[in-house]
Amino acid sequence: MVKVTVCGAAGGIGQPLSLLLKINPNVDELSLFDVVNVPGVGADLSHINSDSATASFLPSSREDKTALAESLKGTDLVIIPAGVPRKPGMTRDDLFNINAGIIKGLAEGIAEHAPKAFVLVISNPVNSTVPIVAETLKQKGVYDPKRLFGVTTLDIVRANTFIAQAGKAKASQFNVNVIGGHSGETIVPLYSIGASKSYYEKLSAEEQKALIHRVQFGGDEVVQAKNGAGSATLSMAYAGYRLAESILKALTSSEEVVECTFLDLDSSIKGAAEAKKLVKGLDFFSLPVKLGKAGIEEVKYDVLNQVSDDEKKLLEVAIDQLSKNIEKGVAFAQK
Ligand code: NAI
Repeated sequence: MVKVTVCGAAGGIGQPLSLLLKINPNVDELSLFDVVNVPGVGADLSHINSDSATASFLPSSREDKTALAESLKGTDLVIIPAGVPRKPGMTRDDLFNINAGIIKGLAEGIAEHAPKAFVLVISNPVNSTVPIVAETLKQKGVYDPKRLFGVTTLDIVRANTFIAQAGKAKASQFNVNVIGGHSGETIVPLYSIGASKSYYEKLSAEEQKALIHRVQFGGDEVVQAKNGAGSATLSMAYAGYRLAESILKALTSSEEVVECTFLDLDSSIKGAAEAKKLVKGLDFFSLPVKLGKAGIEEVKYDVLNQVSDDEKKLLEVAIDQLSKNIEKGVAFAQK
């Protein structure tokens, strides 16, 4: 029996993400938590004739901790798209002050009521919210870095789509490794590796630069088009679902599943120590990982040895920015 909890289930991402989870045959119980509107979302989804059960949990007041506890009890996977999204002109870091506290509160609930769950963090700034969750779980003595995932999948999804558009090819043939972090210049698409290589090399230097920039700042296209009504929700729900589906596949089958995720390069994970050396000792970084029943089984750090000279330069910028984002998250959780 697999139970999945979505925290922030009534939001722009939470609703379509919950819909996708509702129709996943590997999900037996779908638990929806939010601080507003979630009973309606739950009632609506519960009419879908998939085999999973749906339940929604709304706290009766700010002090009510029972709803979160109930939503988390016995859960295998928690996905967190709770918090505020960007408006035009905002960076993901501008969200820190509001979202950091929300994430810390949810992580404390997870530590208490679902200490063994896999935790997928969507809420921005991911580069800082993932360290907040790690630090909070550590403080509560229940931390397992193999079970913590920063969701960067939308960057992979965008990288695939944008190279397909530039190269007039089918997007489904690409699975570009996008490594580093999840904001602006910390996002590093590795177009020089795999199926994208030949398409990428046909582009002029100018076009290559524009393509990389589009992947790094693709979120801004959506923020501007929505004109104050938020950031990516549908493509994000799809991307978050892709990672969740891959984790569920690894949990419920013996298939080899690899995805990129922003992870803690803790030495308990195979390949993490090697990866850490290659990224100047950063504690968190997004890389392709092999998924298994225990979560992250192995970091596929070899991509770091295959990057082109141009990508090396992008990585230097990313590493520099990431170290500050990570520190900020850790400091918040420790104060
Ligand atoms: P939204 O405002 O539509 O939804 C957020 C939901 O979180 C709301 O329903 C709100 O009531 C709920 N919420 C607030 N505090 C909560 C708490 N303490 N517990 C549970 N729920 C709570 O925002 P949207 O568009 O769904 O975005 C959510 C987050 O995802 C934002 O931080 C956004 O920046 C981030 N995001 C991340 C992406 C990624 O690639 N990782 C891509 C796009 C957005």
